[in-house]
Amino acid sequence: MKIVVIGGSGLIGSKLVAGLGERGHEAVAASPNSGVDTLTGEGLDEVMTGASVVIDVSNSPSFEDAAVLEFFETSTGNLIAAEKKAGVSHHVALSIVGTDRRPDIGYFRAKVAQENLIKDSGIPFSIVHATQFFEFARRIADGATTGDSVAMPPVLFQPIAGDEVAQQVGRAAVGTPLNGQVEIAGPERVRMDEFFRDALTAWDDKRTVVTDPHAHYFGAELGEQDLVPVRDGAFIGQIKYSDWLASNA
Ligand SMILES: NC(=O)c1ccc[n+]([C@@H]2O[C@H](COP(=O)([O-])OP(=O)(O)OC[C@H]3O[C@@H](n4cnc5c(N)ncnc54)[C@H](OP(=O)(O)O)[C@@H]3O)[C@@H](O)[C@H]2O)c1
Repeated sequence: MKIVVIGGSGLIGSKLVAGLGERGHEAVAASPNSGVDTLTGEGLDEVMTGASVVIDVSNSPSFEDAAVLEFFETSTGNLIAAEKKAGVSHHVALSIVGTDRRPDIGYFRAKVAQENLIKDSGIPFSIVHATQFFEFARRIADGATTGDSVAMPPVLFQPIAGDEVAQQVGRAAVGTPLNGQVEIAGPERVRMDEFFRDALTAWDDKRTVVTDPHAHYFGAELGEQDLVPVRDGAFIGQIKYSDWLASNA
């Protein structure tokens, strides 16, 4: 089966292309690197030819509120139009646990816009809502840093390894369209400030984590359960952060 992976050169995309290829699928990585640009439409019609499934794991180069909204609205609109022309029968997208609960968070608002375009497209779809990737932890810490302090709220946090995200997105792509969403998370649910206190120690990072209930995450205060799965039936991964760190040292 031909599966086009939009953002196939990225963190999750490259794992998906490798994993689907190993399972005998024709997985085609598509991104500006390979001449496919979802913002301009360049290369889209060509890469869609003969595709059964499109997986969108692209990301905006800028995380600024307006830029990320513009990215996901424009790219998803162009993708849907090209998929309809090519007769693609399943659109799979990777989003974030909690987007529906906190659409006021700038980046989440953009993902909600992406999800709504997909739901209204008429193309059978599956949306995977993942928690934060282990690979994203350093970027979260850096975004919360002032001087030597890292301000973190004591809310629940349940990050997941990128490998397990790619496995679950790949599984959704070769399955029957959900016309709905599924939540996925890592095996350990901890407080965000505690996670980063332990992580900084493990990274041998001299910054200090300061617990602050008012600390912002992508521009907004977080509630206790905003970043963790709340629905029954969430997929829970097996890879613990400490084991992942040890094997990714
Ligand atoms: N970070 C997290 O913790 C987290 C949690 C849940 C869900 N997500 C979602 O996971 C998805 C994938 O994240 P990631 O970290 O794997 O992304 P990433 O490593 O930053 O990769 C981004 C990909 O998007 C591609 N891209 C950028 N502009 C494009 C354009 N105009 N047209 C087509 N492709 C374009 C890039 O292509 P080039 O390499 O060619 O530039 C790259 O392949 C995102 O949608 C994100 O919202 C992230």
